[in-house]
Amino acid sequence: MTEVTAGARVAPTIGELRAMVAGQRARGASVALVPTMGALHEGHFALVRRARELADVVVVSIFVNPLQFGANEDLDRYPRTLDADVAALTALGVDLVFAPAAAEMYPNGETETRVTAGHVGTLYEGASRPGHFDGMLTVVSKLLHIVGPDVALFGQKDAQQVFLVRRMVRDLDVPVSIEVVPTVREPDGLALSSRNRYLDPGQRAAALTLSEALRAGDAASGDGLAEVLAEGTAAFGDHDDVTLDYLVVVDPQTFLPVDDDARGEVVMLVAARVGATRLIDNATITLG
Ligand code: PAF
Repeated sequence: MTEVTAGARVAPTIGELRAMVAGQRARGASVALVPTMGALHEGHFALVRRARELADVVVVSIFVNPLQFGANEDLDRYPRTLDADVAALTALGVDLVFAPAAAEMYPNGETETRVTAGHVGTLYEGASRPGHFDGMLTVVSKLLHIVGPDVALFGQKDAQQVFLVRRMVRDLDVPVSIEVVPTVREPDGLALSSRNRYLDPGQRAAALTLSEALRAGDAASGDGLAEVLAEGTAAFGDHDDVTLDYLVVVDPQTFLPVDDDARGEVVMLVAARVGATRLIDNATITLG
């Protein structure tokens, strides 16, 4: 492996980032991209550690992408912690941080041209957040064009995002490999998320319902789909401040809901609102 430069350098513009990556490429370095919206936590750090194993140079992008937030969502209050993020990434040995302003990424305002996520992009997260996945794929596509990485890394917690990114890369022949890193959890099971910091102590306790529902579904998986859905949904019965949005079991190949008699490996997705905070989680289970 090529020697890694110590200390993260922060590029606020596309031109600077491209020049930095070109410099590394000239040395023969391979490049990994970890796209993030900042407010970094151990889940992101797991992506970075894996990226360091896979490539000589790690680029982390930090950009809260307005295109993937709906009008009533948390774009304005989304946590922005750039200094702390850069310090943490430096400690992890990251080489380059791409931290553009919205005007750098969208100089003419929100782009007319979008990558569309198709039918699956309108389901589950996409049903609750119309346009979210088109906005996400559009910015991921831009980031892949800007950085030109050999590999890009995504967290399994956003399972639908992972499915759609993989499909985009395949459909549009983007020359990058996609690496998926398992969800990082708190010791009690809560999946790490930048949005967990919105939760007060009571809501933090209630948020465990999502991972409990996945565990209950997994425990019932030998009895088939109906039992999985019944047990998973039942986990939400006891909590007044948790509102289930969806709990669904999908085929990992198509991301469409499985048939009643499905068998084998499937993905159970759950989303719920805890107070004003929307959380998601998922687990791979085996229907018997
Ligand atoms: O998962 C996220 O943080 C975002 O959706 C991503 C991939 C960085 C695109 O804005």
